[in-house]
Amino acid sequence: MSARLLPGGPVADAVFTELRPRIDKLVAAGHTPGLGTILVGNESASAGYIRMKQEKAIELGCVAPHLHLGEDASQADLVAAIRSFNDDPAVDAMLVQHPTPPQIDFEAALLEMDPDKDVDGLHPVNLGRLVLGVPGPVPCTPAGIEALLAHYDIPVAGREVVVLGRGFTLGRPLALLLSQKRPTANAAVTVVHTGVPDWPRYTQRADIVVAAAGVPGILQPEHIRPGAVVVGGGVRYEGRKLLPDVDERCEEVAGWITPRVGGVGPTTIAMLFRNAVESAERRAGGLRSAR
Ligand SMILES: NC(=O)c1ccc[n+]([C@@H]2O[C@H](COP(=O)([O-])OP(=O)(O)OC[C@H]3O[C@@H](n4cnc5c(N)ncnc54)[C@H](OP(=O)(O)O)[C@@H]3O)[C@@H](O)[C@H]2O)c1
Repeated sequence: MSARLLPGGPVADAVFTELRPRIDKLVAAGHTPGLGTILVGNESASAGYIRMKQEKAIELGCVAPHLHLGEDASQADLVAAIRSFNDDPAVDAMLVQHPTPPQIDFEAALLEMDPDKDVDGLHPVNLGRLVLGVPGPVPCTPAGIEALLAHYDIPVAGREVVVLGRGFTLGRPLALLLSQKRPTANAAVTVVHTGVPDWPRYTQRADIVVAAAGVPGILQPEHIRPGAVVVGGGVRYEGRKLLPDVDERCEEVAGWITPRVGGVGPTTIAMLFRNAVESAERRAGGLRSAR
């Protein structure tokens, strides 16, 4: 048996097709959506990610103001950069590219961000909104996984989902998202981690397994039920080499599986722009009603 693939590219294309007229409408109303990006240091992979997001922003008709701080930038420099974007009316949404140099406390910096401009959805206010189920920017990779499953008509509601990993960018918010009351979620979600040494007992009975550990090859074929849906979220980089959590032999057992490259990456970017456009729409509405 060979699993059917769940590429993220077509999902992202569908999201961009839906966003383009919304962006055009904002531009026509005099409010060009702005995605502000902040890079601290000169790490080439991070610079590449920022460039890709800026190019996509321009292609979609948005603007992308950018602040580049040096490798030796202080916490105060980063806070000043974030505050300048908080106060900049041309910036609807912003991100600080992760990882940052060791002298930077990324989570403390996040607290300085206007939560309504937090495009990654990781500010505690936005994680709180996620817990409460009220609208706000949703963490991009988890939102992209929900969109991916919905795009391929994979039923989630009422099914058993096991998330391997409880990290704050992926596993934990994904569990919250997929357990919300919504047709594309509404699942029975179990989260396993290092505190559950016999975690394969859970993944082996799951309808959908999401690997979110960041441990190369942690999910092996014997850990999944034949025909299960397998989503690979966790990755580790060794230099430029990408090492996914999901062992490639899982393709022989799974019913559906994300490709090793081009799975949740493209959907993450699409969700980032969805958050940015929603932020611009909220701000444009607010600015109009304030006039
Ligand atoms: N593709 C994307 O765009 C994207 C976006 C976001 C994140 N990611 C990737 O997703 C992964 C998770 O990121 P994160 O920030 O959410 O998580 P994280 O903070 O790195 O946490 C990893 C989680 O995996 C669990 N884990 C690690 N080794 C394990 C083991 N041997 N057995 C069972 N559980 C284990 C950890 O358990 P404990 O809590 O018990 O330590 C922890 O909960 C990373 O690889 C990251 O690069 C990808």
